[in-house]
Amino acid sequence: MKAYHDCPKKREARKVTLCDAWRGLSGLDSVPQGLQYWTLSGPLGSKGEVDPSSELGQVLRSGVIEPSQYHGVDFDRETFELNEALVARTYGEGPRLYHGSMAEILDRTLTRGGLRPAIVNLDTLYQPAKAVELLGSVLDTLNQTNGFVMVVLNVILGQKHRGVGYASDLIWKEAEANSYCNAQLLNGSWLRVPSQYTYEGTGQASRTTMGTQIFYRLAA
Ligand SMILES: C[S@@+](CC[C@H](N)C(=O)[O-])C[C@H]1O[C@@H](n2cnc3c(N)ncnc32)[C@H](O)[C@@H]1O
Repeated sequence: MKAYHDCPKKREARKVTLCDAWRGLSGLDSVPQGLQYWTLSGPLGSKGEVDPSSELGQVLRSGVIEPSQYHGVDFDRETFELNEALVARTYGEGPRLYHGSMAEILDRTLTRGGLRPAIVNLDTLYQPAKAVELLGSVLDTLNQTNGFVMVVLNVILGQKHRGVGYASDLIWKEAEANSYCNAQLLNGSWLRVPSQYTYEGTGQASRTTMGTQIFYRLAA
């Protein structure tokens, strides 16, 4: 079985929800110098180097970012340590990796005066209710920054059942139903792409249907 990060459906989902979405919403081909791409990294490879099919490999090949703009966070220590070795061997200096929770790392970076987000990819394997809790705490921090930002929230919509469909605004509705998350959406005047993107999961999530909702905030 192919690993989660290395599957054609996942690669297509990344292309649509990250690369194409960024270009469509920002009108820019790539993230401007000095701005950052934040993501839940997950494992970046297994064969001694960063896999070109991993998220990091894919976004670099797409030309959306350069290595120094990548900031990968993972609270799983084993994943973080594996990635550190892979990134050092493949790129040397450049991509930054952090061990800890996304909300805390973003908040710490803000406090230190270093947060300049352009894209934040919350690529979770959470159910919508838990995913929007993470979204709320991330938006709380992003609302203290300026400029155009795109936030991509990936969730598990449900187990695969033949003929089951999901409302195209399911994730947005869940975000609005969570009072903390909704307050952050309103505070930052966040907008959303009208329809969530749906795809079949792979690897760890092979028996599931995944959904991705894109949020964005215009530059003031
Ligand atoms: C689905 S994987 C990421 C896959 C990757 N973005 C890709 O495209 O291949 C999610 C990763 O995020 C980590 N994770 C989940 N929630 C997190 C959080 N709140 N803070 C930090 N890491 C988290 C998990 O340990 C897991 O390795």
